[in-house]
Amino acid sequence: KEKFTTCFRTGYVRIKGCVLPEHYLKFKDQIRDLQIRDEDIWVCSFPKTGTTWTQEMVWCISNDLDFEGAKVNLPRRFPFLDHTPLFDYGDLLEKIPDMRNLPEYVHDSVGFIDRLPSVRHIKTHLPFQLLPQQLQDQTTKAKIVYVARNPKDTCLSYFHHCVLMEGYTGEFEDFAELFLNNSLCFAPYPNNVLGYWERRNDPNILFLRFEDMKKDLASVIRKTAKFLNKDLSDEQVSRLCEHLSFESMKNNKAVNYEDVIEINKKYKLIEADGSFMRSGKVGEWKAKMSPQLIDRFDKWTDKYFANSGLIF
Ligand code: A3P
Repeated sequence: KEKFTTCFRTGYVRIKGCVLPEHYLKFKDQIRDLQIRDEDIWVCSFPKTGTTWTQEMVWCISNDLDFEGAKVNLPRRFPFLDHTPLFDYGDLLEKIPDMRNLPEYVHDSVGFIDRLPSVRHIKTHLPFQLLPQQLQDQTTKAKIVYVARNPKDTCLSYFHHCVLMEGYTGEFEDFAELFLNNSLCFAPYPNNVLGYWERRNDPNILFLRFEDMKKDLASVIRKTAKFLNKDLSDEQVSRLCEHLSFESMKNNKAVNYEDVIEINKKYKLIEADGSFMRSGKVGEWKAKMSPQLIDRFDKWTDKYFANSGLIF
């Protein structure tokens, strides 16, 4: 855990079992007490499991394929509840002019969401037990779309994310160790996935898998549209499939966090090169993990998921 230091995150604590930066404690009650509305649509996930992909799909379906409106930056259309609680920019705000001009959804994500008009689309990586209380108690008709991805690809993607977006400079093997020890931010991964998986049959929860989106995106789009009470024609489904293809999303400035990566590079906060839409594959771990690490991941996955009925 001590090895995991990035530019923006240090000093971790466990809150209801979930690893979060100490900074989060300042926002804990505000998040718990957030007023939920019947029309809200949430995308929940563990980091690097296809959250952005799912957000773009959900937003487009919910907005009747408004591709013009979809040109607005995704974090504005579909804000990240935990953004401000996660990132302690500290004195960077003083030193870096671009940081001072960050939009409200960055420097006050919870307040921004609280004031948004309906229909609100909200992203969070929080486990079920840390969601706003009304969402946990299901006292509203708010909908939750959860997306899960196999743990080995999630770990690999998370490693590259931390190198590119957070200035992590350690080795992959050490990072994988932290993943397996449930020490990374938002860990434990099994608790995050299982908390939603156990509620997958609730009428307001839709449980999706990254691997199914890769295999048959059209079917996942249809299932999601049905969940959101939207009708899509075959032509609309295929147009949305094109919009959501890896190549299209890689070139789509509204969803690929290019602005954030540019600021990090401009001010030399992070030296690493790369793009947010990195490879988008299933099974990349096969080429990147040693046989010993694969074995440990398999045993670990079995330990947490063998009796759950969830197969990756
Ligand atoms: P990789 O790092 O394996 O490429 P999140 O949005 O939760 O941070 O997840 C990011 C992961 O989803 C990245 O995985 C990214 O490439 C992948 N991804 C995003 N859009 C995708 C798409 N349209 N098709 C396939 N993978 C996509």
